[in-house]
Amino acid sequence: MQETFPKNFLWGGATAANQYEGAYDEDGKGLSTADVMTNGSHTQARKITWIKPETGETGYVELSFQKPMNFPEGAVPAVLDGCYYPSHTGTDFYHHYEEDIKLMGEMGFKVFRLSINWSRVFPNGDDAEPNEKGLEFYEKVFKECRKYGIEPLVTLSHYETPLNLAIKYNGWTDRRVIDFYVNYAKTVMKRYKGLVKYYLTFNEINCIYMAPFLAAGIMTDDEQSKAQGAHNQFLASALTVKAAREIDPEIKVGQMLAYQPVYALTADPADQLASLKQMDRTLFYSDVQTGGRYPDWIWKDYEAKGIKLADQAGDYELLAKYPVDFLSFSCYSSSTTTTHNDGESASGNLLGGVKNPYLKTNDWGWAIDPDVLRIALNQLWDRYHKPLWIVENGIGVNDQIAADGKIHDKERISYLQQNIASMRDAVNLDGIDLMGYTMWGCIDLVSAGTGEMRKRYGFVYVDRDDRGQGSLKRLPKDSFYWYKKVIASDGADLSD
Ligand code: BG6
Repeated sequence: MQETFPKNFLWGGATAANQYEGAYDEDGKGLSTADVMTNGSHTQARKITWIKPETGETGYVELSFQKPMNFPEGAVPAVLDGCYYPSHTGTDFYHHYEEDIKLMGEMGFKVFRLSINWSRVFPNGDDAEPNEKGLEFYEKVFKECRKYGIEPLVTLSHYETPLNLAIKYNGWTDRRVIDFYVNYAKTVMKRYKGLVKYYLTFNEINCIYMAPFLAAGIMTDDEQSKAQGAHNQFLASALTVKAAREIDPEIKVGQMLAYQPVYALTADPADQLASLKQMDRTLFYSDVQTGGRYPDWIWKDYEAKGIKLADQAGDYELLAKYPVDFLSFSCYSSSTTTTHNDGESASGNLLGGVKNPYLKTNDWGWAIDPDVLRIALNQLWDRYHKPLWIVENGIGVNDQIAADGKIHDKERISYLQQNIASMRDAVNLDGIDLMGYTMWGCIDLVSAGTGEMRKRYGFVYVDRDDRGQGSLKRLPKDSFYWYKKVIASDGADLSD
């Protein structure tokens, strides 16, 4: 029997407004946390710039996934003269959406994952009324998708909290932000009723633990703030599921988790335990949002750390009553851990860990693991038995235009061949209920981790460099034609 995917499998690609859309101050959009982040590189961290309004002193905090990022007393994140902020233009989807969606249609996309920039719809986050121009933009985008039979998959918050909410409320640490978010979610779900069926509440919700400013507009990087921020986001997710049921029973709301299976470097039981505990730390977020309850170990952890949640009567009943309908996740590679001191350190989108001797890496040190999707899908399916959706997977490559004017992105095709074969086995051999697959950064966009353009993921090249130069012209790569064939054959033909 030939192995394929179900006929209704949602093939497509994924993007995020803060990395793709640009037009950061057009048509009434407010500033978001992404708009104060400069570019960086593989070796140099992105900077979050600030000003002290009292004195005019300026400075920055480095974006880090490994160490705490705390703003000095009185510092307010701000756009500074002379700094380059890649989100301000992204790769200009705002002015290229018709062309880009047409390209997606040509590839045969069934789904396009994009995010709504919260600060385009509610410029300050706490506004009484939405910005009509912002709402109109996304309506045009969704109608354009429909023209090509493409289903939009909408992330409500992808690494861009309205900046005002960060400054005035310390982001998601404040319970009032739940109401602002739910009001925003209701506004868009009502406005796009019949146009949008699939929503994700928070991109990589577990990232709040590693980078609270990036994920939740939190300016105080301590355990208490992060735990409270997560609790408030869980409640907001449950209230969004509740609202979706009331607005349109057709809507399906999903969680979005950054998932990296963690392997133990050795068979030493101490390494096995370390990998188990590291996975628990990630899965805590899906235990609550997808499973509907706080796991027991987290209360011990909070107690040991002196964390006290400002919870209220009814919170846990709400979480149990309104878990998400499906669990989506990003997965680029696995990570490896050890309790021994002999591992060479490695990189990844969230967890660093140590180098896995069996795997090669890309130019940014991310491991290329041919079995990672099958392993991840099995782990998540066994734990939750809820429909799964891979909403990010792909490889960053510094693509070059060859002498024949084309981009021969063999490395990307080879990575995707392995990854798609791996998830195909999970569906065909393991019986996992997988809704779809959206390759990350289907049209080149800015890297979230480094702010670079050279770290490209797309099937389509965009002429733009790390200094913000370039015509923004689009050029399909070899992988564009390859993916078109994959979709047309329902995943049966992965040959290049
Ligand atoms: C995920 C994020 O962690 O990884 C995306 O949801 C991001 O926003 C992607 O772009 C790839 O990471 P990077 O740092 O290579 O852009």
